Amino acid sequence: MTVTDVPVVARNREDLARARAELSGTVGVVMTMGALHEGHAALLQAAREQADHVIATIFVNPLQFGPHEDYDRYPRTFDADLALCTEHRVDVVFAPSAEVMYPTGEPMVRVNPGPLGEVLEGASRPGFFHGVLTVVLKLLNLTRPDVAFFGEKDYQQLTLVRRMVHDLDLPTRIVGIPTVREADGLALSSRNSYLTPAERDSALALSRALFAGVAAAEAGQGPQQVLAAAQAVLDAATGVRTDYLVLTDPDLGPAPTSGPARLLVAAWVGTTRLIDNIALRLE
Ligand code: PAF
Repeated sequence: MTVTDVPVVARNREDLARARAELSGTVGVVMTMGALHEGHAALLQAAREQADHVIATIFVNPLQFGPHEDYDRYPRTFDADLALCTEHRVDVVFAPSAEVMYPTGEPMVRVNPGPLGEVLEGASRPGFFHGVLTVVLKLLNLTRPDVAFFGEKDYQQLTLVRRMVHDLDLPTRIVGIPTVREADGLALSSRNSYLTPAERDSALALSRALFAGVAAAEAGQGPQQVLAAAQAVLDAATGVRTDYLVLTDPDLGPAPTSGPARLLVAAWVGTTRLIDNIALRLE
């Protein structure tokens, strides 16, 4: 049996600073809200391969939840999360409380995501990206990584983090990691645990819609037909209420007529809001 070291668990700034000072060479960070799954495992594995040391952060950030969202019921599974971090040879787990992260209450100063933060997820979840970018910036400052890994599953978040790092001259390289899917196509998400078996079946409409869009693009169809192919799958699904289905360029700008593009979907399945997206190429 191999004995694997358990990561150092830092609960406050002082513990983190001490543990960080022990790390020589390059440091990669994987930021999470816990409830870790194979999608997070892919981020940890990439971090392990691309950096000398890995810090994982586990923090359910109240700032990115609206008043009627799922902050209280968001899954908290610290022991299982620590086991996954141990398996992936994470050096340090930073798992602060809300009081540690925001000692004087909600911060008065927040990162403004700009216009890209007001569309898609930002339109449906006002203030969401202010909360995300504020905590990401704080965690970058606290962990001081050379490289940070984010999943493409949250494509708008990844795009905005890249933008923030570029626009604010932050000294961290951002790496996007492809979405991990179940065998039947469902994108892994901590929120999948809310789904009943029937809802999980309905949720497959999201990835099927994206795959239909990709198939249409591969058949040489244009942006309108790609969208129509994806929309048809969503329309035929039961128990799915579409929030948005959009085709954009890879930076979330207007859809191109040819070349690389991104198809993004958000939908409610019961009381659970799910998002997914996929890359495609228009001929
Ligand atoms: O993607 C997430 O889990 C969160 O939005 C993040 C990046 C950890 C910030 O709270």
